[in-house]
Formats: sequence, C-alpha cells, structure tokens
Amino acid sequence: MTLRCENLSYTELAERYGTPLYVYSQSALDEAFAAYQTAFAALNPLICYAVKANGNLSLIRRFAELGSGFDIVSGGELARVLAAGGSAAKTIFSGVGKSAAEMEYALKAGIKCFNVESLPELERLNGIAGRLNTRAPVSLRINPDVDAQTHPYISTGLKANKFGIAMRDAEAAYARAAELPHLRIVGIDCHIGSQLIRLDPLIEACERILALADRLAAQGIELQHIDLGGGVGIVYRDEDTPDLSAYAAAVQKLIGSRPLGLILEPGRSLVGNAGDLLTRVEYVKRNEDKNFVIVDAAMNDLMRPALYQAYHRIEPAEPPAAAPFTADIVGPVCETGDFLAKDRRIAAQAGDLLVVRGAGAYAASMAGNYNARRRAAEVLVSGSQARLVRRRETVEEMLANEQACL
Ligand code: LLP
Repeated sequence: MTLRCENLSYTELAERYGTPLYVYSQSALDEAFAAYQTAFAALNPLICYAVKANGNLSLIRRFAELGSGFDIVSGGELARVLAAGGSAAKTIFSGVGKSAAEMEYALKAGIKCFNVESLPELERLNGIAGRLNTRAPVSLRINPDVDAQTHPYISTGLKANKFGIAMRDAEAAYARAAELPHLRIVGIDCHIGSQLIRLDPLIEACERILALADRLAAQGIELQHIDLGGGVGIVYRDEDTPDLSAYAAAVQKLIGSRPLGLILEPGRSLVGNAGDLLTRVEYVKRNEDKNFVIVDAAMNDLMRPALYQAYHRIEPAEPPAAAPFTADIVGPVCETGDFLAKDRRIAAQAGDLLVVRGAGAYAASMAGNYNARRRAAEVLVSGSQARLVRRRETVEEMLANEQACL
C-alpha cells in the first residue's frame, strides 16, 4: 500500500521537501479539536491547546481559527501564540519556573490567567502586577496526589513531583492569594500527567479539586473556573485510550450545578496522530546477532523512544521489495540510545522511505541540534495542498549565534 497524508503520497512529499520531514494533516487537527468540542459541548469549555506539544506557528494559527485558547509554559511560547494570531485573552500560563520577565510580558499582553504553582511565585507575581499597577488573574495549580498510571517521567500529579501546591497547603495558599492586593483569584487547576490511558485518575483528580473548590467557596473564595489540565492519551500501538464522551459525562456529573467554567489543556491528543515523521533508509547493517536499519532521522528529531522507551509505529511508505526481518531502527547520532524502534519486524532496504507514526506531538517541539544536525522541515497538508510551515534549517542558521573566539 502507498501511504498518504490526505491526498498526497509520502513518497511525493519526501521527494519535494527531503527527509527527515514532519508531515501534519490539517483535517486530522480539525477532527481532533472537534472531538473535544463535541464531547464537552454541554459544558462549553475553553479548550487551551498545550503549545508545548507542537509550537509550529501554522498549527497554532489553525487552532486559533478553530476558536482554541492556549496553554503556555514560557515567554517563548507566548511569543509564538501572539505571532500566530492567537488570543492573549484566551491564553493561560502554566509552569513551575516563570521568570519575572515572563510574568511582566504576559501581564502586559493581557493573558487570561496565571496557573501559579508555589507561594514564592504568588508573591513575585503580586509584586510585578503592583509595579505595573494592575491585578494579575490567578489560578492555583493544586497537586491532587493521584497516580496517573503513566510513564514516571510524564507523571506530574504525585506528591513526589515538582508540580503544583500540595493539597494540604491549598487553602492556606488561597487565603494568602486573597490577601495580596495585586492578584485576582479566578480559578483552580491541576494536571496529573500525560499519555493517560485510564480515565479513573482524571476523574479522581476532578473530584478532589471540586471538593477543594467547595471548601474555598465556604470560606468566601468564589472561583470562576476549574481547569483539569492536559488531555487523554493517544494510540501509538494498541492502547485502549479513554473515551472523550465518557470523560465529559463524568466531569459534567461531578460539576453538577456549580457555576464553574471548564478549561482543558490538551496537547498530545490534538496533534499527536495528526503528524508523522518521514525518514529514508541509509543502510541496512547486519552485525553478528543483530540487524540495524540505519535511517536519516535520529533522536534529535524524535526523542521519545530514547527518553521514555516510547513506541512509535514505523511503516514503509511504499509496498516493500525486501522481505521482513527483525531489526533495531536507529539514527546516525553517536549514542547507543539513538533508536526509533527496538527489535521491530520491518521490510526495508537502503533508499526506502519509512513513516514514523504519531510524530505530531512532542517530536518537532523537542527537537535539537545534537551532533550538529539541522532541524528538520515541517509540512502541513490540506487535501491536495502541501505548505512548508518550517523550512529545513541551514548550516549557516545553525552556526549563526556562535563565534570562534581565540
Ligand atoms: N498542561 C500542562 C500543565 C502540562 O504540563 C502538559 C504536559 C499538558 C497540559 C498537555 O498534556 P497532554 O494533553 O499533551 O497530555 N514530552 C512528553 C510529554 C510531556 C508532557 C508535559 N506536560 C512525551 O513526549 O510524552
């Protein structure tokens, strides 16, 4: 079978733009966004796309066109949102280490809310808002101490994680926020982890956060919104991913008649399966007891297998001429950890084009220049049209900020 993105064959795209190449499908982005809107329609949520999953300006612009807000974790991501025409008024700012400069930038831009993760951050934000003669809208990120049952590196809602304010300190933190003159309390948020395959931890976190919101209301602290953090997991292999309608129904039931708006911050599930990474086979190498398919994409283009032992499906773009064999699919980077797949059945020979699936999220956004490899190009496909939304980095661009000083 010849694999395609919408109406364009991957072979044609690779010939036109070269490899490695990230290819995104616009209709898949649209469908993923619509799935959240439809499932949660009764709650009329503000969906804030988590820019960290893929910060390409064209993807941000598309989500802005669809009515999305944005979840950012740095001034750089805010700059991306604004450059792409996203609305600051629909942007929320998460993250444990916001700098003073980032706070000032976001306040001046007029973002919807700061998701504050600690008491010192609260004090700093109050000081900066005071200096700017304004009041900063805040939500406190509460750590609900729920096990998200995902990979430890992407689990964030446990006591042991660096994220959020501990549940037992939450009421005191809200009381302090209420005392600070340059803050305006607007909400509460949590985020328990990513690539969530089970619904119950998400629902348990929602329950705990709502119970806290009730205790705060009893103390006279009325919130406008509850933000349940990131989205559900996606299928990389054969995962039984949560049903969005079931999630929405559970949240609706829990919120009940409380006058609380809902915010969601999905990243992976909006873009992950809308993107693939194209890579060409350079060599097939047979060592004494192992086969290696050496391709032109590497851990600097897709770090997930090396970092989280993540599984990505890899398929030939055209019906293969070679017979299948078992091999590690590896890149040119000089690290044993530089692999895209381990012990995989694959039919490939030098020159073949391979499609690495599920590379829309946390692939290009986590890419780097290790081994002085240039950042790959990105293409957005809509129907029979392909647009180059990031051109391949040149050697000159890669070297531009450096000087060979004596
Ligand atoms: N909100 C906050 C505060 C987050 O920290 C994250 C992800 C999200 C939303 C989006 O979560 P999602 O809907 O994508 O699950 N690099 C890792 C994933 C790191 C996720 C970090 N936080 C990976 O490649 O699996």
